[in-house]
Amino acid sequence: DKAQQDALKKAAGIEAAKLVEDGMIAGLGTGSTVRFLVDELGRRVQEEGLRFTGVTTSRRTQEQAEGYGITIVDVDDVDRIDVTIDGADEVDRNFNGIKGGGAALLWEKIVATNSDKIVWIVDESKVVDTIGAFPLPVEVIPFGAGHVIKRFEDRGYKPVLRKTADGKEVRTDENNFVVDLHLGRIDHPQDLAEDLINTVGVVEHGLFLNMVDTVIIGDPHGPRILSN
Ligand code: A5P
Repeated sequence: DKAQQDALKKAAGIEAAKLVEDGMIAGLGTGSTVRFLVDELGRRVQEEGLRFTGVTTSRRTQEQAEGYGITIVDVDDVDRIDVTIDGADEVDRNFNGIKGGGAALLWEKIVATNSDKIVWIVDESKVVDTIGAFPLPVEVIPFGAGHVIKRFEDRGYKPVLRKTADGKEVRTDENNFVVDLHLGRIDHPQDLAEDLINTVGVVEHGLFLNMVDTVIIGDPHGPRILSN
């Protein structure tokens, strides 16, 4: 149930917070699991005097971190990020996965790309043999988005434009749309990634391939740390 899942997310977040040391530049992801991570980092800043600089992947995470007095800088104000800790929607045994359930995939991928080390924190329900049951988020420019969606339909990608509860298009932090592809399973993620990124109007997609170094899995027996 939800309480049990939250406990696993929290355990993974607390474990990952140990990777942030004094003087580091740390990328902070987005989502409900990362919320627990930022809570723990905030606790360490306030109670243990931890000092580090954060680079955030969404306005939501920035607000939460700054609420704890964590220093947040722009990604362009740093040379490299020591470690980025983020959640994920699905991850397979090769550490390839899907992100963007929270619509933050573009900034998340930009921060990840500029990080020396990438760590994902997930509860055990996110670990799968083959990714794709979770609808793949794709960030699309609003201008001409209808044509991009038709093109995805023609390719059999089963696209759905993401909407809010009151029926408005979801907007990302860059004011773009999100189209979710209901693929069921993704057998050739590399080919799909290339096809998507070569579609005019697509800004970025939620496939994160060959990027992740460590996955921390919240497990009822205690967090499990898997490294590539
Ligand atoms: C945000 O766009 C996503 O990539 C999140 O990191 C992902 O959806 C995981 O979120 P939860 O920790 O809330 O499951």
